[in-house]
Amino acid sequence: MTNTDKDRVVIFDTTLRDGEQSPGATMTHDEKLEIAELLDDMGVDIIEAGFPIASEGDFRAVSEIAQRSKDAVICGLARAQLPDIDRCWEAVRHAKQPRIHTFIGTSPLHRAIPNLTKDEMAERIEQTVTHARNLCNNVQWSPMDATRTEWDYLCRVVEIAIKAGASTINIPDTVGYTAPVESADLIRRLIETVPGADEVVFATHCHNDLGMATANALAAVAGGARQIECTINGLGERAGNTALEEVVMALKVRQDIMPYHTNIDTKKIMHISRRVATVSGFPVQFNKAIVGKNAFAHESGIHQDGMLKNAETFEIMRPEDVGIAGTSLPLGKHSGRAALRAKLRELGVEVGDNQLKDIFVRFKDLADRKKEVFDDDILALVTATTEGDDALQLVNLKVVCGTGGPAEATLEMEINGDDKSAVSEGDGPVDATFKAIRMLHPNKARLQLYQVNAVTEGTDAQATVSVRLEEDGMIATGQSADTDTVVASAKAYIHALNRLIVRRGKTGKDVKEISYRDVT
Ligand code: KIV
Ligand code: ZN
Repeated sequence: MTNTDKDRVVIFDTTLRDGEQSPGATMTHDEKLEIAELLDDMGVDIIEAGFPIASEGDFRAVSEIAQRSKDAVICGLARAQLPDIDRCWEAVRHAKQPRIHTFIGTSPLHRAIPNLTKDEMAERIEQTVTHARNLCNNVQWSPMDATRTEWDYLCRVVEIAIKAGASTINIPDTVGYTAPVESADLIRRLIETVPGADEVVFATHCHNDLGMATANALAAVAGGARQIECTINGLGERAGNTALEEVVMALKVRQDIMPYHTNIDTKKIMHISRRVATVSGFPVQFNKAIVGKNAFAHESGIHQDGMLKNAETFEIMRPEDVGIAGTSLPLGKHSGRAALRAKLRELGVEVGDNQLKDIFVRFKDLADRKKEVFDDDILALVTATTEGDDALQLVNLKVVCGTGGPAEATLEMEINGDDKSAVSEGDGPVDATFKAIRMLHPNKARLQLYQVNAVTEGTDAQATVSVRLEEDGMIATGQSADTDTVVASAKAYIHALNRLIVRRGKTGKDVKEISYRDVT
């Protein structure tokens, strides 16, 4: 971006920090690297890769993302404390373009947590932003809960941060409290009032508690903000953050009233949305704008008739614009490996030869059981392809159930190379199966979430199952897909257990030691 390009909106993605920090959305190290690479490839300007002081795992992830970065600026979060800022710098310093993002809660309620007076906090801001600026020439500062901070005090601290060297001032609506008119007005007045404001970029960071995050972010741009902070699928604590796909597509589709542009390759939206849903274990709601399964589906007769005559009757953007392949033909049991690879490419999935081999075996098996294999089926297969070196593998499962009594599961598993089997009864087929898994692999993981979705229509549709487990503060999600819901459930449960095993082994107890909301 050049400074003269005043209509360019910088996209700051915080899926890996604000998004990942939401309870249950924890991603593994490799998943974070994969998502960072996808974000970089799609043209995200700044990736907030994590909160380095929070845990060893966060630090490692931010460092490695920084080292692998291509075009994006890599940013780490730090509280207004010198050790936080030093740790953040250590993690981001190897990026081609590093940024330190430091913040402190400035509203009366947030000031009360560290018990600082207004003057003491102002001094802390001066000291910490100066320290960050001495380490890195790209510093972002945020007054957390800005939208509930007294106007005079907000102006005062923003001015201090600018004078201390911050080049981006982010104005967070931490609790999703503001509304569009106010959001635009706040940024406009800050730019008009604070000395030096025209020398820095103003950013907007909105939470979605009242369902206004996208509207508030776009209003802030109208007020003069030129950086939007957002996450893929709107992932984030409570009701989430502004959704990247929504602001980017709104700016693209409504150029007539919002003449701003971003650097995002919108054709990559759908793929990254699916990957984030999979790795975070947070499925996308069917009617979610842009990336929901129904966002481009036209069910009713009147809609279908209109669509056939002219797609623009009911479509304001084309599915291809967000990376949804046009209505290409489904694959069938006679399709070969080359057709499968071509289909995967069309869906934005690149796989190595070994993974293709695994997916192909599963595809053939599915095609034998299901007449037509649709795009969503293929994507579910990709999700369900587990790593071959997993400690726990499902070998066989038989379940007997009926209306008259408990269900009985007979399970065979390979555990570290040894075949083991168990029989268990349970309250329904899934309960019996999970109990049998626990008999073979005793563990104290608590089932936090069990979710089943049908991938396509029909009684032969594949079911995708998500399972989230929690053990000693560690969270792991597992997914799988199969035309048999109970088999998919068993595989998803085993997938989550395998991830817990890896996490336990690799990092010891990788529990978040600090939350960015803890103490400021
Ligand atoms: O919501 C918030 O205030 C934040 C800050 C750390 C920017 O995420
Ligand atoms: Zn936030």
